[in-house]
Amino acid sequence: MSTDTHFLRLWRWFTPHRLLNPASGRWIGFLRRLFPSREARHPFDRAHRVDTGGLIYADGLATGHEHDIHSSGYYATAPSLFRGAIKLWSAALEASPYRLADYSFVDIGCGKGRMVLLASEYVFREVIGVELNPQLAAVARRNLRWWMRRKRACRHVRIAHGDALSFPLPDGPVVLFFFNSFEEEMARMWLDRLVEIAAARSAPIDLIYMHPEHHKLLTATPAIQVLADAQIALSPADAASDAFGISFDRCTIYRLLN
Ligand SMILES: C[S@@+](CC[C@H](N)C(=O)[O-])C[C@H]1O[C@@H](n2cnc3c(N)ncnc32)[C@H](O)[C@@H]1O
Repeated sequence: MSTDTHFLRLWRWFTPHRLLNPASGRWIGFLRRLFPSREARHPFDRAHRVDTGGLIYADGLATGHEHDIHSSGYYATAPSLFRGAIKLWSAALEASPYRLADYSFVDIGCGKGRMVLLASEYVFREVIGVELNPQLAAVARRNLRWWMRRKRACRHVRIAHGDALSFPLPDGPVVLFFFNSFEEEMARMWLDRLVEIAAARSAPIDLIYMHPEHHKLLTATPAIQVLADAQIALSPADAASDAFGISFDRCTIYRLLN
């Protein structure tokens, strides 16, 4: 058996429940050194020497917070999907008086921060990743420190450790990125809060929703309008490393009305 096969077996056994246990974290480091595998890493991570990959089930992300029960776990959006989504949203912006540079970008449930890193390549006013799990937030900060050694289009980039429901949105136009970080009950509470916030401000709140599982919930909300909707293709490299074997995914862009 090759060392890669060995590693993958151990990796699968460890990942779902044990990755974030501090003791097992040491084991993961030990196993990685013992069985170095390039195949287990996402091409984005290999290219940029960061750690944004992996699939972590919700029960491996418990923090003691009352909203843990709503978490849907960690899996990062493919870079090609993210870039496709930004292109779709930017095209929708052309019909409005606002431009990308007017907006703050907020990733709701940023995990290890892949979307935050990618968003810094655009001229956003500010880029923020909000993450409930402290270990993931720490990994995201580490990735970000490394990433920001290079010149990026946006320099105001940060990771906020905390709950999406209590995170104060920045003033001015805001675009939220959402990839099913939590399940329906929490999504409903979060949307109610967004509707309230949008009603009290004049600047737009847009939502880029990747793989919109709760689309019906959003379209049933009168204060939310659909700006665009499309199937986006993953790049061949992203598709080859996708844990679910997908080559396309849907993205819907919404605007909260004020
Ligand atoms: C499916 S991952 C998405 C990661 C990233 N947004 C992306 O698209 O690559 C969802 C993340 O949301 C986080 N999360 C779950 N519930 C949360 C909450 N109430 N507040 C903030 N983050 C939360 C999880 O810990 C996980 O890292």
